[in-house]
Amino acid sequence: MGAVASRSRRSVLAVPGSNPRFLEKARGLPVDAFFLDLEDAVAPLEKEKARDTVVAALNEGGWDGKVRAVRVNDLGTRWTYRDVIAVVEGAGAELDCLVLPKVTDPAHVRWLDLLLTQIEKAVGLEAGRIGIEAQIEDARGLVRVDEIAAASPRLESLVYGPADFMASINMKTLVVGEQPPGYDVGDAYHHVLMRILMAARANDLQAIDGPYLQVRDVSAFTRSARRTAALGYDGKWVLHPGQVDAANEVFSPTQDDYDHAELILDAYQHATTVQRRGAVMLGDEMLDEASRKMALVVAAKGRAAGL
Ligand code: GLV
Ligand code: MG
Repeated sequence: MGAVASRSRRSVLAVPGSNPRFLEKARGLPVDAFFLDLEDAVAPLEKEKARDTVVAALNEGGWDGKVRAVRVNDLGTRWTYRDVIAVVEGAGAELDCLVLPKVTDPAHVRWLDLLLTQIEKAVGLEAGRIGIEAQIEDARGLVRVDEIAAASPRLESLVYGPADFMASINMKTLVVGEQPPGYDVGDAYHHVLMRILMAARANDLQAIDGPYLQVRDVSAFTRSARRTAALGYDGKWVLHPGQVDAANEVFSPTQDDYDHAELILDAYQHATTVQRRGAVMLGDEMLDEASRKMALVVAAKGRAAGL
């Protein structure tokens, strides 16, 4: 994984950009990352005012090492370009990423990349510092996900948007993240999740799972998060304080797995350098170079989680 893509995003808090009370509360939560939303959590009549609220919240600071992002409106609306200009001119030095929703075409990402480059030059920000996270939220985005994932060096992650996605394909359910009733032959989301994950990994990007909307049901959230964590996803959006600890835990390795990974790395290092062997036994387990790569992933996530 590239250097930027290694920023921790186990828990990514969605914060409506028009609500100063939520913005204040968000500061105190132990999330890895957050985004201040100008899109679907903000009513059309509040869109313009929300830009000022979001800029002020970023400039006030107090975000304590979290990855700071803003979600702008999608390119099918009239708001997007002004969102980008207002936020980056107003608070570019306090911003790590922009989240672009409903990406259906690599040109959307290239457009944002170019606009960011222009604004960085105009206001004297470090070139290329602001990253992009692209939401894949419908059938059009999914069928072009490989091109989208390769569209800009600013890209840091692909984010699955389950609510919009389920609407876009006419899935016969209203419960976001749960299996649609009547489909009892497997996981209805497997193809979509894997497709996004493959495009992300092939381009050294993170893959982030979207929200779980039944916010009071933490055990259902945890079950849903475990599924994407098991596939290899790096984190999940959280909408409620009750979901934060679960996300941080599910997307970190267990202490046992972390300790085991460090053991594999030590044993394999010793085997290849001192014993000059490419394969070695650790207890009952045969280790080779592929074992080292798997252990590196777990160890890196464990170190980032402070294990
Ligand atoms: C998130 O944006 C979603 O549509 O689920
Ligand atoms: Mg959406």
